Amino acid sequence: MTEIIKRIVGIMSICSLLVIFQSTGLFAGPANFVGVDKCKACHSNVKIGGAQYKVWEATKMAKAMETLKPGAAADAKTKAKLDPQKDYTTDPKCLKCHTTGYGQPGGFESMEKAPKLANVGCEACHGAGSDYRSPKIMSVKAYKENREAARKAAIAAGMIIPDEKTCTTCHNEENPVHKPFNFAEYKEKIKHWK
Ligand code: HEC
Ligand code: HEC
Ligand code: HEC
Ligand code: HEC
Repeated sequence: MTEIIKRIVGIMSICSLLVIFQSTGLFAGPANFVGVDKCKACHSNVKIGGAQYKVWEATKMAKAMETLKPGAAADAKTKAKLDPQKDYTTDPKCLKCHTTGYGQPGGFESMEKAPKLANVGCEACHGAGSDYRSPKIMSVKAYKENREAARKAAIAAGMIIPDEKTCTTCHNEENPVHKPFNFAEYKEKIKHWK
């Protein structure tokens, strides 16, 4: 009998330790992908984060999922020996680069499960945003007071300042319609920074 009680007490203390760990964030998992709409809330307003959303929306990356639908970009598909009538929107071989966070924790899985992560969204380049999008980190005030410190805090919360390597995880020869990638040139085409 006392053995059983000892065991129960043992299990209970492990449980309470887990709760304590979790509340301190020690066991907090990796950041999750939240989708472009969450970023749009501040980044379509020059008075808050800036007007980046509008620029992104006009790039082909904002419609990368459309490209995988039957009949879309038929010429490009035919040239690359892909079937223009086939539905590629559930093909893992394509989703990897035409969505946000595919294969990563909290990233795109399917249109049913995470439609907001279809297309190459902000987080495909800037990293999963559940932690850094917090108004405490991305704060007008914090950035005004000390830009460098604010950026440091955002990076610590998972934000990425993208460089050429970020792009070439997708802009590479594995892409069936790959074109030579010139970082400076391509960067200019999506310019949404000062
Ligand atoms: C609560 C409002 C808010 C939300 C939500 C938000 N941001 Fe921001 N973000 C800001 C502000 C404010 C700044 C600082 C702007 C400045 O002064 O340049 C900023 C800065 C940035 C920067 C530049 C950081 C630097 O140090 O140069 C990036 C990149 C960025 N945001 C990406 C995102 C992404 C991606 C999302 C969605 C996952 C997002 N933001 C969500 C308000 C927000
Ligand atoms: C998650 C994969 C992924 C990453 C990372 C990525 N791209 Fe792309 N990019 C794509 C896909 C897919 C397309 C084609 C979309 C379509 O046409 O359906 C594309 C298209 C483009 C285009 C074509 C023009 C347009 O209107 O969008 C430019 C320019 C571009 N990317 C620049 C960049 C740069 C610069 C980086 C790095 C800072 C980058 N991309 C990172 C997947 C990615
Ligand atoms: C390794 C990443 C990657 C993979 C895998 C990938 N794509 Fe792409 N795709 C891209 C990038 C990057 C571009 C833009 C290329 C550029 O403009 O330089 C693109 C562009 C395209 C385009 C041209 C769109 C246009 O408007 O001209 C089509 C069509 C396309 N992809 C279809 C597919 C299909 C179908 C699959 C799966 C069989 C696939 N892609 C797999 C990265 C990828
Ligand atoms: C294809 C990759 C890519 C995507 C998608 C993307 N960005 Fe960026 N972003 C960049 C790059 C590259 C820079 C410039 C980094 C540097 O300073 O060298 C940048 C810079 C920024 C900055 C800094 C602005 C400044 O003036 O310094 C903000 C804010 C930002 N992005 C927000 C966003 C938001 C919001 C989205 C989605 C609506 C988004 N980005 C989508 C690649 C991307």
